[in-house]
Amino acid sequence: MSQLHQRRVIVAISGGIAAYKGAELVRQLKKQGASIRVILSRGAREFITPLTLQALSGEPTHTELLDEKAEAGMGHIALARWADLMVVAPATADVIARLAHGRADDLLTTVALATPAPVAIAPAMNQQMWANQATQDNLSQLSKRGLQIIGPEAGEQACGDVGPGRLLAPGAIVTALAERFTSRQLEQRRVVITAGPTLEAIDPVRFLSNHSSGKMGYALARACADAGARVVLISGPVELSPPDRVKLISITSALDLHKAALAEAPGADLFIGAAAVADYRVQHPASGKMKKGDDDTISLTLVQNPDIIAEVSHLERRPKMVVGFAAETHNLLEHARTKRANKGLDMIIANDVSAPQTGFGSELNAVHLITAATEEQLTLASKQVIAEQIISALAEALHQAAKSHPGS
Ligand code: C5P
Repeated sequence: MSQLHQRRVIVAISGGIAAYKGAELVRQLKKQGASIRVILSRGAREFITPLTLQALSGEPTHTELLDEKAEAGMGHIALARWADLMVVAPATADVIARLAHGRADDLLTTVALATPAPVAIAPAMNQQMWANQATQDNLSQLSKRGLQIIGPEAGEQACGDVGPGRLLAPGAIVTALAERFTSRQLEQRRVVITAGPTLEAIDPVRFLSNHSSGKMGYALARACADAGARVVLISGPVELSPPDRVKLISITSALDLHKAALAEAPGADLFIGAAAVADYRVQHPASGKMKKGDDDTISLTLVQNPDIIAEVSHLERRPKMVVGFAAETHNLLEHARTKRANKGLDMIIANDVSAPQTGFGSELNAVHLITAATEEQLTLASKQVIAEQIISALAEALHQAAKSHPGS
């Protein structure tokens, strides 16, 4: 499956003769299974219509920054947060200059400034404009800030010149974007991740559970696999397909999860407990379906489930790093810090589940990464972008630990 499968990509097309190739890029990204939102700059609309891009992307094309109707639907900030990736193709010399200066004078530049997702640009312009020191300085600024520069290539240009400045072929842009998602940060590492809810049986047809969708755990599993790790994903029942190259172990109850986690965790490099494990289970689930009686109330006796992540963090062959989540509705940081220390975790990821945009099942998240020595905030972004930021931080921590204790 393509690295771009199910990625949410903003394709921003700026005004140059190569704008028509932007349409082909949208088509090819769709073929890879990506979800696309298109931004057309004012200049681009001189070359290509919003309707063409709407037909190709299957979504309304975004054009204006100050448009009441558009803002009432998916506004520019919501669009910026929705993305896993933004690519500007073609990027004209003017757009490159405005991006380099952090301008926000149209929808394209505003979204580029507002998105927490990585941004790539595929320049296209006349060879003389490309060679101009102003353009080269702007590009080196953008590159220093971490933007991916894709192309251009040399060849015959629309204006008749020959030289560098031609937009790379859409297929080559797609390949470069896909490669962006394959870091080697966790090469040779073994990662175990728990995800989703657990179901605690009351009788053969009823259960106690919670609203966990599994999205964060699955996004983490994908980010780890993309970073080259061998990944085991132990998951409760969710409506998601497992990412490619990930070994899935499906479980139902907290006791199943306990057994699977204790079998997989010893000796792992990284253990991430993203599952919403039920704290209690029914002590004696009925063996047959319970019948409604005459009583207005009934009682179930619940017993506590084992704290799986706490056990993992006290294993003899403890994973090198054990990371948990704290989903809280109030006093987020305080509860998370206490939980990290009590469970013996290297890091806890604090997640406010009372906020409407970051609750269970939502597409976005905003978290705090808390270790014994540091606290870092990751602001609102798609769960995949948050997962990649978390995995990058954990890979760096593993790397630092290996440097200070070689051979461990
Ligand atoms: O204590 P609380 O449920 O808030 O802790 C959340 C963290 O602990 C999560 O990482 C979750 O996966 C893990 N956990 C666990 N076993 C339990 C309860 C929670 O591993 N019984």
